This record gives sequence, C-alpha cells and structure tokens, in this order.
Amino acid sequence: MELPFAESWRIKMVEPIKKSTREEREQWMKEADYNLFQLRSEQVYIDCLTDSGTGAMSDRQWAAVMMGDESYAGSSSFFHLKETINKITGFEYVIPTHQGRAAENVLFSHLVKAGSIVPGNSHFDTTKGHIESRKATALDCTIDEAKDTQLEIPFKGNVDPKKLETALAEHHENVPFIIVTITNNTAGGQPVSMQNLREVRAIADKYGKRVVLDSARFAENAYFIKTREEGYADKTIKEIALEMFSLADGMTMSAKKDGIVNMGGFIATRHEDWYEGAKRFCIPFEGYLTYGGMNGRDMEALAVGLDENTEFDNLETRIHQVEFLAGLLDEYGIPYQRPVGGHAIFVDASKVLTNVPKEEFPAQTLAIELYLEAGVRGCEIGYILADRDPVTRENRFGGLDLLRLCVARRVYTDNHMRVIAAALKNVFDRRDSITRGVKIVWEAELMRHFTVKLERLQ
Ligand code: F0G
Repeated sequence: MELPFAESWRIKMVEPIKKSTREEREQWMKEADYNLFQLRSEQVYIDCLTDSGTGAMSDRQWAAVMMGDESYAGSSSFFHLKETINKITGFEYVIPTHQGRAAENVLFSHLVKAGSIVPGNSHFDTTKGHIESRKATALDCTIDEAKDTQLEIPFKGNVDPKKLETALAEHHENVPFIIVTITNNTAGGQPVSMQNLREVRAIADKYGKRVVLDSARFAENAYFIKTREEGYADKTIKEIALEMFSLADGMTMSAKKDGIVNMGGFIATRHEDWYEGAKRFCIPFEGYLTYGGMNGRDMEALAVGLDENTEFDNLETRIHQVEFLAGLLDEYGIPYQRPVGGHAIFVDASKVLTNVPKEEFPAQTLAIELYLEAGVRGCEIGYILADRDPVTRENRFGGLDLLRLCVARRVYTDNHMRVIAAALKNVFDRRDSITRGVKIVWEAELMRHFTVKLERLQ
C-alpha cells in the first residue's frame, strides 16, 4: 500500500482554541457591527482572516530568538539576516523594515512622485495605497483570465505582456519601475511563471526600466514554478528563487508570510543608487540601518525562517494542506478561484449567494454566515474592500466579490480544514434561503473594510 502524505514536521507546543455557541456568536457579531475585524480573537474558533504574521515558528527559529543581538548599531543579527537574504535573492543591499508596507513606504518615498505610473499585476492594497497617496497611479496589467474564477490555468497571476508594453509605450517617461507581486494575492494567491518574469524583464529592458518583486509569498511562487512549469521539476526551491530574483532589480518583502515570522520585512536590491536613496527614508521612518523596524531577535528568527521556508518539504506540506481544503470544497461543489493558490481559498461569493444583490455585499454576507455557522473567520476581498471610486463616490462593483479563507503556516491540522469545509457546506446547502445581505451604516473614506459598521438586512 502506498503511504499517505503527511506533514514534514511534528508538533512541540500547542495553543488551546475555544468553541462557542451560535447564540454567543450572534451576539458577538452584532457587537462587532458585522465586521469580522472587530471580533476579539477568542471569539474565533478557526481563524482564516490572514496568513500574515500568523504562522508557527519552528524550534530552530525560537532558538535563534535567544541569539538576538539588540545593539543599536552594527548588530550581528542584522548581518546574519543580510547574509541569508544575499544568498537567497542574490541582492546585495538590504534594508530591514518592520513589515511589508513599511518597505513599500521607504522605497517608494525615494522612487514614486506625483504623476508617476507604476504598472504591475493586481497591486496589493498597501502597495496601491503607497502609490496613490503620492498622487501616482497603480496601473493593473494582470492577465484577463484571472477574472474568470472557473478557468483552470497554471499561472493565473501573470502580467499581461501586451498590457505592460502598451503602458510603457504610452507612459514610460513617468514609470519609475514595474512591480510584480509573487504570488498574486489579490487574484487569489495565483503564481507568476518564470517565463512571465522573463517577458517582463525583456519589456523593462526595452524601455530602460527596473523591476521590483513584491515578494511576500515568493517561496510559494517558487514551489508552483517547480511543480507546474516545464524545466523546473529537478531544480531546488532555492535555485528557482535565485533565478526569479535574477530577473528583477529589487524587492519589497513582508516577512510575515513566507519568512514565517510574526512581524518583519525588508527591502533588498542590487543597485547602490536605490539603496542610497531608500536609506535616507529608513532612518526617520523605521530606524537605524542595521535594525530598521526590527528587533535583533526577530532578525535572527527571520534568517532561519527564510532558510527553512525555501526548502521543498516545508512548502509541500503547506500547499498540500491548502489543496486538501480545496479538494473538500470540490466534493461539495463550492465554487472558488481555480486552481487553488498558495495561501488561501477564495470562494466566489457571487456564485454562491446568487439571491443577495451586489449592493448588499454577498461576500461579506457569506463571511458573516460562515462565522455564525462555526466560528470560522474569513475575510471579504470584494466590494467593501474595493472602496468607493475617488471621483464619483460610487461603490466599485467592477471586480470580483470573494470570501478569502487563509491557511496560516504550520498552525492548523487537516481536521481543522474539515471543519472549515463542512461549515461552508452547511451555508452552501441553504444558500437559496439567504436573500438579504448587509447595509453600510458607517465607513471610513479609505480602506473602509477594517472599520466599516454594518447592519444586517432582513
Ligand atoms: N504585499 C502583499 C502581496 C501582501 O499580501 C501584503 C500583506 C503586503 C504586501 C503588505 O505587507 O502586511 O507586512 O505590511 N498582506 C496581508 C494579507 C495583510 O492579509 O494579505 P504587511
């Protein structure tokens, strides 16, 4: 008999989690104004809100924490981290920051000006925020196929070379760099192929532009290249990562994802002028250059995390679990962005709650229903997150309306995945009876999803 797949680690420490009753959850959800960000974590049984900063560190990482050098300047922990980043990315210059958006803030302070145009593939919210807040434009050049959730293609996060070429032909004077997000979170944790990175490089070279990789989930991207792209099956994750970065000029990193630390980030680049430029903003915004926004102990843990998570076994265990959850949803006929991506399932709420009008936010309604059903917390990546059009102030209904269920790294077991799937199935089975959604009663002007107050419509 063939041996079944099993995790590449065993568990050394556990953290109890609490179940609750439906009555309790009804009350808590009401108190939270039907916004899942407003729940207290102990009101959640299985937390799929994000895979960011929620991973479990290994024994080697915890051991490294004890070796942290907290010197203000010249910390040996910084040099450990820098050497690891040099080895994994090939980028010589490193600036530590407290998280990914801080890396964006520091680098973009140097590079993005009013009127700049930054083409890319589905810029993440904070990336877009740091571009738009500088009165610049984030131009989305993702392939159109990413919008069709039921279409099954291996690299659905790709940049459309034609759109990129057109953008550069028209705007090259105002383009400070191109940014490619690996994996493409907004499109569903979808990978970008090496071939596509080569195409982006060629277009960038033609116009004399540089390329930044938003690398939050670069190791998962490398895993997909290894398992899906021709010619990479026999290469190691580290070899693939090095090749990906060789096609770029620099990176911003949220280490809270593929670095498997709870907080951290950095900028890395091969260009001294970018380093010198960004350095000036690191000191006032983040801190001195050998700690940025990080503790010495956190830099040690990150160095180990980066090394561990660019090993195949660790990634295989992780992606296997996400695929396991997707397999259960397939069994139950629940539609999600296909094929499943690296860090989450993105349930297509507009195909589930077909009786809820878009003005009543189907994905948010599905998130609420799933929480009420079993205490599982997901996150709306849909019409509420999309905010209003800055000019017309109308809601933006043009994109997808998804419920994202993130899988934290090395945290939950496959049994938890079974609970998530069963809870979703129960909601799915009564989907026709769900005809009303929610109404916004208070919202912030930007990034409203974190604090929005909602009312349930009956
Ligand atoms: N880039 C990508 C692709 C991200 O997914 C995130 C964060 C960031 C940058 C910003 O990094 O949070 O460390 O400041 N994504 C989290 C999420 C918040 O839930 O998807 P950060």
